[in-house]
Amino acid sequence: MQNFEFYNPTRIIFGKDRLDSIDKYVPADANVLITYGGGSAVKSGLIAKIKIVLGKRKVEEFGGIEPNPHFHTLMKAAEIVKKNKIDFILAVGGGSVIDGTKFICLAAHYEGDPEDLLKMGFRRITSDVVKKVVPFGTVLTLPATGSEMNSGAVISHNDGKYPVMSDLTFPVFSILDPTLSFTLPKIQVANGVVDAFVHTTEQYLTYPVGARLQDRFAEGILQTLIEIGETTVNEPDNYIVRTNLYWSATLALNGLIGAGVPQDWATHMIGHELTFLFGIDHAQTLAIILPALLEVRRKKKHAKLLQYAERVWNITTGTEDEKITKAISQTRGFFESLGIKTRLSEYGVKAEQLDNIVQHLKAHGLTALGEADDHNLETSREILEKAM
Ligand code: NZQ
Ligand code: ZN
Repeated sequence: MQNFEFYNPTRIIFGKDRLDSIDKYVPADANVLITYGGGSAVKSGLIAKIKIVLGKRKVEEFGGIEPNPHFHTLMKAAEIVKKNKIDFILAVGGGSVIDGTKFICLAAHYEGDPEDLLKMGFRRITSDVVKKVVPFGTVLTLPATGSEMNSGAVISHNDGKYPVMSDLTFPVFSILDPTLSFTLPKIQVANGVVDAFVHTTEQYLTYPVGARLQDRFAEGILQTLIEIGETTVNEPDNYIVRTNLYWSATLALNGLIGAGVPQDWATHMIGHELTFLFGIDHAQTLAIILPALLEVRRKKKHAKLLQYAERVWNITTGTEDEKITKAISQTRGFFESLGIKTRLSEYGVKAEQLDNIVQHLKAHGLTALGEADDHNLETSREILEKAM
C-alpha cells in the first residue's frame, strides 16, 4: 500500500424524510443562498419544502446553474453572495449544482482574478490563496458524481472543463434522501450508475500495490452497481435499490477507495474533451472511453484486469487473456444494458474529428496521463480510434 493522507469532514445524513436536519446544521442566524439547476427542484416542490425548514432565516435563491456549470453563471451567484452578505449556501441538485456551488464559495471573497482559480489544475487551493470561503451544505437529487462528499469541482470556461481542487470546499453536510431522485429521467439514472462505476475503476484498474482492503471496497462497489444497475434504471421508485446506488456513488469518490493506491483518471480527462466539444453527457463520455482504454492499456493493467475479471465478473475459465477480453466486453455490455451507447460514432462523431480531440488534449497539457504518466497523445489517439 502506498503512503496516504485521508481527510473527509462531510457529515452524511442518509435516508427518507431528512430535510429537517437542515435546521439543525445551518446556523440559526445565517443569511442563506439556495443554489439549484434548471428547475427540476422547483418543479418537484423540493425548494419550497427547504424554505419552510429554513424558517426565519433570510433566504436568497440562485437558479439556472447548468449541467457542466459555467464560470460566468457562477460569478453571477458570487456577486449575490457578496451583495447580500450570504454566510451559508445550500446546493440543491446533482453534481453540476454542487460543483458550481463549490466554485461560488471559493470565488465570492477571492481577492484576485477568479479565473486564476481555474488554472491550478490538480494542485489544491489553500487558505493562503483564498482567505475566506463560504461554508455550504447539499441536498443531493442525482446520485452519480460523489461531489456531495468530496471537495473537487469541474467548471466549464471558454475552451474547456477545468478541475478545481481544495480542502476548503468539502460540504459541511449532505442530505442523501434517495426518494428525491425518483423524478430523474431514466438516462440520468443510467448516467449515475456509469459515473460511479468508472470512478471506481479509475482507482482500481491500475497495478497491484497490496492494498487488499481498498481492492475489496472497489470490488464491492462494482459488484453492487452491476447487481442493481438495470433495476434502478427500470424501477425508478424502488427505494431499497436506489439507496444502494446513492451510497455506492458517494463512496466511489469520497477518497476512501483511492487512499494508498495508484490512480488513472485518463478516462475522465479524455471524456471532458468530448463533453466540451460535442456536448455528450459526462457519464456517456466515460462509457465510450473506458472499454477502449482498457483494451489499449491491457498489457500495463494486466494483473488488475485479471483480478477484475475473476473477482468482479466471476470469470473462471479460459486463459488469462481470454478472461480479460471477456471482462472488457462484459463491461461494455453492462453500460449498454443501461441504455448507454458506447461508441463515438453513435453520438455522431466522425473519424476526421479525432485530430481535433487530440489537439484539445494537447492544448490542455493532458499529454502524460495514466497511473504511470506513460499515457501520451498517441495512446489517447489509439483509444479514440478504438472507441469509434
Ligand atoms: O438542472 P435541473 O433542472 O435540476 O436538471 C438536472 C440536469 O438537467 C437533472 N436533475 C437532477 N436531479 C434531478 C433532475 N431531474 C429530475 N429529477 C431530479 N431529482 O439532471 C440533469 C443533469 O444534472 P447534473 O448535475 O449535470 O448531472 P451529474 O450529477 O451527472 O453532474 C455532472 C457534472 O459533475 C461533474 C461533471 O464534470 C459534470 O459537470 N463531475 C464532478 C465530480 C466531482 N465533483 O467529484 C466528479 C465527476 O467525475 C464529474 O466530473
Ligand atoms: Zn465522473
